[in-house]
Amino acid sequence: MKDILQELEAHRAEARLGGGERRIEAQHAKGKLTARERIELLLDEGSFEEFDMFITHRCTDFGMEQDKPRGDGVVTGWGTINGRMVYVFSQDFTVLGGSVSETHAKKICKIMDMALQNGAPVIGMNDSGGARIQEGVSSLAAYGEIFQRNVVASGVIPQISLVMGPCAGGAVYSPAMTDFIFMVQDSSYMFVTGPDVVKTVTNEIVTAEELGGATTHTRKSSVADGAYVNDVVALSEIRRLFDFLPLSNREKAPVRPFFDDPERVENSLDTLIPSNPNQPYDMRELILKVADEGDFFEIQEDYAKNIITGFVRLEGQTVGVVANQPMVLAGVLDIDSSRKAARFVRFCDAFEIPILTLVDVPGFLPGTAQEYNGVIKHGAKLLFAYGEATVPKVTVITRKAYGGAYDVMSSKHLGGDINYAWPTAEIAVMGAKGAVEILYRSELGEPERIAQRTKDYEDRFANPFVAAERGFIDEVIQPHSTRRRVCRAFAMLRSKSQQRPWKKHDNIPL
Ligand code: HXC
Repeated sequence: MKDILQELEAHRAEARLGGGERRIEAQHAKGKLTARERIELLLDEGSFEEFDMFITHRCTDFGMEQDKPRGDGVVTGWGTINGRMVYVFSQDFTVLGGSVSETHAKKICKIMDMALQNGAPVIGMNDSGGARIQEGVSSLAAYGEIFQRNVVASGVIPQISLVMGPCAGGAVYSPAMTDFIFMVQDSSYMFVTGPDVVKTVTNEIVTAEELGGATTHTRKSSVADGAYVNDVVALSEIRRLFDFLPLSNREKAPVRPFFDDPERVENSLDTLIPSNPNQPYDMRELILKVADEGDFFEIQEDYAKNIITGFVRLEGQTVGVVANQPMVLAGVLDIDSSRKAARFVRFCDAFEIPILTLVDVPGFLPGTAQEYNGVIKHGAKLLFAYGEATVPKVTVITRKAYGGAYDVMSSKHLGGDINYAWPTAEIAVMGAKGAVEILYRSELGEPERIAQRTKDYEDRFANPFVAAERGFIDEVIQPHSTRRRVCRAFAMLRSKSQQRPWKKHDNIPL
């Protein structure tokens, strides 16, 4: 009996060593942790239960029968983050470059199936050379099995990808179908075809970092939702994000203890809006002053900065925030910001996370670049996302809410449940200058008359009261009481239930 126990331990030790000391050192030398070290940091201490540690591949081509590392290049199982269940896989680059074989993929599929069945998120740590070249089409088929599960799980359980090394070719499409992708600066990259192929096909000379590094994907492509300086920071931030999320669409997000008074008054908000309507201010200040303990987890912080998206808590409950940012492009809606916010709104709605919308929007960005690239269709994504969202929706208009963008930003007409405006709000078809130039074109040569016309327009429309008269605004509120009003609104909406007609699925403009 003792011998068998020792044998088991010996097998385990062999599996835990992955590709061996030399390759582990090489992994560390690149500033990367090993697959197991990552799991240890991500999960609560001692909570990891591993599956399929002894699995080996079945390939017999290219001498592979001589090289059958236990675990086959991926560590899988489940554990907890702050006591809440999560399934994980962590690719082991030290074993055949973390490449994906038939059996490697089977391990991933197994935990995805369990996660779906048992209602818990999946966090994947990707660090892989892609399809196991020696296995050919079997490896492609194996990827397909993962892809299919990504699709089925979408909207049922949260799926989070951490890209912590190479992720190339078709392999990028599994993370791409998950809810969030986070990268590690300087040690991860994602691209469909690498720099060599790019050079051959398009004659462009580009490094892997330029083509698909964290900076590219968080600032230019928006493929990634955030990037961190190293593995340790990335893993601890994912723990923080996880705490905001429900385990599945069958459950509500967790309610955390909070130490911040929901009645807290913020007098500084009364002077947040500058007297000059063209002067910007930082909408992030409002988010931080409304949130419990000023805690805000931002999504896509470096992309389309004219809109801010992320999670806060109000009275301990998770709330998704979407806010125009007047500091960037005057907070205008454009293709990038519409896409960014639409995806975020849809995530919140899929997982029953209420949405707080903070509005200061001068309209949609004009120009050929926007029109040629389909601002109509992309802008419609956000409109559609808000219109289909049945979660509690609370909106606060701080300043401008002009034109179609007024409708889009969770207006009453798109099912906003409670719509507040600050006294500084201006809800109109457009700003006074633009309106007067259209209405009184023949008087443009007479500056005094135009000035009077502009003042008349401002007096009539540059306020929240016309909208309030029609019931499009439920109440004009004092800025300093925003936290209290918003907390009370969400509390009132806690048991909201809204049904829509049956359909197979909608046809959001893609
Ligand atoms: C089998 C692989 C492998 C792969 C790496 N290795 N990629 N083994 N299949 N795809 C092995 C290497 O042989 C090596 O083994 C070890 O992993 C580490 O690789 P190195 O090249 O030494 O590491 P590094 O210099 O860091 O380079 C990493 C790399 C490079 C950039 C990822 O290995 C590489 O270019 N690999 C091939 C990538 C690729 O073309 N994959 C297929 C993409 S297409 P030893 O024994 O020396 O340690 C694809 C399609 C998916 O993935 C389709 C889904 C539908």
